Amino acid sequence: MGDAPEATTALATLEAERAQGLAAVAAASSIEELDAARSGVLGRRSRFTEVQRSLGSLPTEDRPRVGQRANEVRDAIEAAIEARRSELGRIAEAALVEADAVDITLPGRRPAIGSLHPLTLVERQMVTIFTRMGYRVAEGPEIEDEWHNFEALNIPPDHPARTLKDSLYVDIPGLLLRTETSAVQIRTMQAQAPPVYIVAPGRVYRREAVDATHLSVFHQLECLAVDEGLSLAHLKGTLEAFAHEMFGRDVRVRITPDYFPFVEPGAQMAVSCFICGGVGCRVCGNGWLEQGGAGVVHPQVLENSGYDPERYTGFAFGLGIERVAMVRYGVEDMRLLVEGDVRFLEQFEGVA
Ligand code: FA5
Repeated sequence: MGDAPEATTALATLEAERAQGLAAVAAASSIEELDAARSGVLGRRSRFTEVQRSLGSLPTEDRPRVGQRANEVRDAIEAAIEARRSELGRIAEAALVEADAVDITLPGRRPAIGSLHPLTLVERQMVTIFTRMGYRVAEGPEIEDEWHNFEALNIPPDHPARTLKDSLYVDIPGLLLRTETSAVQIRTMQAQAPPVYIVAPGRVYRREAVDATHLSVFHQLECLAVDEGLSLAHLKGTLEAFAHEMFGRDVRVRITPDYFPFVEPGAQMAVSCFICGGVGCRVCGNGWLEQGGAGVVHPQVLENSGYDPERYTGFAFGLGIERVAMVRYGVEDMRLLVEGDVRFLEQFEGVA
């Protein structure tokens, strides 16, 4: 006895749905696609559901077979869906593990370590040179009074350096941002009896047009030696010893007369240019780079500070730390030292 034609069609539809359903499940590459495949094949509007609904209208003797086949088809698809679901879960987990994987055989990433600023490096090197010679480090305030900054240094009230054009005053009368570290000479002598051997590094301020060799906030290192029997010869020897320690044996040191109210005689110290070696170039002009002012301490300054100028003599100098840094590291423009460009600063990484 053959099947009724409706039953044959229903069975064919079920088989077609089984094949299509299993293919859709196998092709699903995500849980969402799998859910979509499920409602496409087994959902309320699917051809499978249509067959199930039509069971009642089939001849009675065909119903069990078609019904049983429908159950088989649904079970097969459901089983395939569950299998695919756990497979997709495993794939997703594996992808996650891979994405999170740490290759412990790779070399570590080197953390970016900051470095000391070239001015800090140079200041420390300068201080080390002088402390090795027996000097100690002294300090003074950056906001200074006019007496220590000018009068005690023999700079009279009508001196042009004292005008608002050259110095930076604060709102409190009689106080200004120190224009040179020489004020520390006076403070040191006031605070201790001779002999004195100090260096005083620090920041100074001037109303100044900024260019390749001038800043308006810069640093100096002051040196003061007061003892019995000190002379210009000691000053010269000290400056030369410093320059050779700082810049190497090849550098030539030039000491020429200059005027500062607080020394007599006064001098200026320059070293041969690091670019042209002293013949003259775009950076130095005449072959020499000025490093600082110097001289034999004026007797009046000793007296202003409470020392006996009949018994004691001394020498002093003030070196520009930026100028020293330019020669030490071959920096052609002082502004590089304060602009904070990382490409410039990185070059000093690892320098001690
Ligand atoms: C002075 O400041 C004196 N106090 C130096 C001194 C000390 C003389 C003790 C005698 C005894 P001068 O203004 O020349 O002198 O400055 C000294 C050094 O500071 C200069 O040689 C230079 O190296 C540096 N300097 C001066 N002006 C600037 C500036 N605007 N920017 C950067 N460096 C400067």
